[in-house]
Amino acid sequence: MEHKLMELPYDLGALAPNISKETLEYHYGKHHATYVKKLNGLLENDREKANYTLEDIITKCEGGIFNNGAQVYNHDLYWNCLTPNPSKISTALESAIGKDFESFEQFKEKFTEACTTLFGSGWVWLTVDSSGKLAIEKTSNADNPLREGRHPILVCDVWEHAFYIDYRNAKPEYLAKWWEIVNWEFVSDRFESVKK
Ligand SMILES: [Fe+2]
Repeated sequence: MEHKLMELPYDLGALAPNISKETLEYHYGKHHATYVKKLNGLLENDREKANYTLEDIITKCEGGIFNNGAQVYNHDLYWNCLTPNPSKISTALESAIGKDFESFEQFKEKFTEACTTLFGSGWVWLTVDSSGKLAIEKTSNADNPLREGRHPILVCDVWEHAFYIDYRNAKPEYLAKWWEIVNWEFVSDRFESVKK
């Protein structure tokens, strides 16, 4: 099974000015595309792993196959979590956030803090565990909470390549603009589907 670069659910310039077309040309068109290409190259002569889904790769593989497979999954989720259109969070997710983080504002603050304090390259996630509890998690490089059995429903890419063209080293500015384009409908649907 050949892995494919996902189709973006919007045009390359659609997230501007929050995230520019130039960033998408590099981040999606070069970085993300290269992970897909490298993954396919690594799987070419591996009969067993060639049929693995990205989830299988994340939970069962190590080394280059893990790194490239997880980066494909992580970026697929990142792009799906964004939208140029206004979107509304579901009542179910909003009340779960209220329950686990006291308020939506506190959640946003804690998530942003996790992003600004993550050292080096990585990802910040909102995850759901098997009991339905939400958590904010930081991971380094390609790592993904699926490895610990928790399901990611929202992710922010805090590798420098996600914001350097638009914001240089001003990560907090990227985060402020990133919040404005989160696709809450997608995140809410994902919350519903992992609870089942
Ligand atoms: Fe990235």
